[in-house]
Amino acid sequence: MSPDSSSDSKQEAFSQQVLNWFDVHGRKNLPWQKNINPYRVWISEVMLQQTQVATVIPYFENFMARFPAVADLAAADIDDVLHLWSGLGYYSRARNLHKAAKMVMETFAGEFPPSVDELTQLPGIGLSTAGAIASISMGIRAPILDGNVKRVLARYRAISGWPGQSAVAKQLWSIAEELTPDHRTANYTQAMMDLGAMICTRTKPSCLICPLQQDCLAHAAGKETRYPEPKPKKEKPERSVRMLMVINEFGEVLLEKRPPSGIWGGLWGFPEIHMDEDLTEAAEIKTGLSLDEFESWQSFRHTFSHYHLDITPVKTFAMNTSAVADGDRWHWFQPDQPSELGLAAPVSKLLDKIKRSL
Ligand code: ADE
Ligand code: SF4
Repeated sequence: MSPDSSSDSKQEAFSQQVLNWFDVHGRKNLPWQKNINPYRVWISEVMLQQTQVATVIPYFENFMARFPAVADLAAADIDDVLHLWSGLGYYSRARNLHKAAKMVMETFAGEFPPSVDELTQLPGIGLSTAGAIASISMGIRAPILDGNVKRVLARYRAISGWPGQSAVAKQLWSIAEELTPDHRTANYTQAMMDLGAMICTRTKPSCLICPLQQDCLAHAAGKETRYPEPKPKKEKPERSVRMLMVINEFGEVLLEKRPPSGIWGGLWGFPEIHMDEDLTEAAEIKTGLSLDEFESWQSFRHTFSHYHLDITPVKTFAMNTSAVADGDRWHWFQPDQPSELGLAAPVSKLLDKIKRSL
């Protein structure tokens, strides 16, 4: 068997499973599935780009009542178009619809061009929307890859990586292309959208009643929700700070109450000195103490949800301890008889180390 015919039979088996499922379970009574033409499919697909089916239905009906054909939309005042759109959000979609309608009238003589390539020249029509218009309203074999279909295909073939990455998107498009049949193009497109919306849902896919269950790689591995992978997290910014561990002649360690808001808000911590400040000077100004014998310890990293904090502990000795007394802001902590204070985690850790070093 040649590679072509093997891929043909794979396509045939896949689309048969999808279409058989669609015949029994697919959605067939949505308003844009009646009186199908490119104009109606286009309007519905654009409305559905960022909005749920249930929300779209009344907007679609009103829009069609007011602008039954592309010529009506092209001739409309943009304010009327925006008015009918109000509540749907993402108003650039409405502006693009109006521009595209004019372009259909002027550039394409009032007929939607019968190819995916030409459809994507219209403002607001990307490759997937063009594929949906072509396959649903023109009987053209054209793959689609909206959010729902990306999820189904990424799981079916266990495609790693985030689909926002062009290499991953390319793989998914190639799978979509490979599996799309040349018959029942409208039903197949609708079926793939419905499978994603109704069966292969984001958090709880219903694999047991899914027509693709037998050959689905993610399901075989029991890892359905690992696909598609989410957008990679941004690198966290790195900040650094010195923590001043001031020790007095009684072996007590100076703690400072932190401001009520911000990291470790209201907890007790060491006085902090920024990395770009002169250590001795800033430390003496901050504490009001005369300090001596500065000793930097090995830095370590504490990671918050939004950034990494590199902490350099600096041990030092206070000569005139009495200049700072216990109160709302300062506390002389006794490592031997630790008082019950709210302490930031790295501070507890360092206090333990100090205790062992004294
Ligand atoms: N989302 C995008 N296109 C759709 C369609 N034709 N039917 C249902 N939901 C959709
Ligand atoms: Fe999605 Fe499960 Fe069907 Fe695979 S078997 S396509 S994971 S619903």
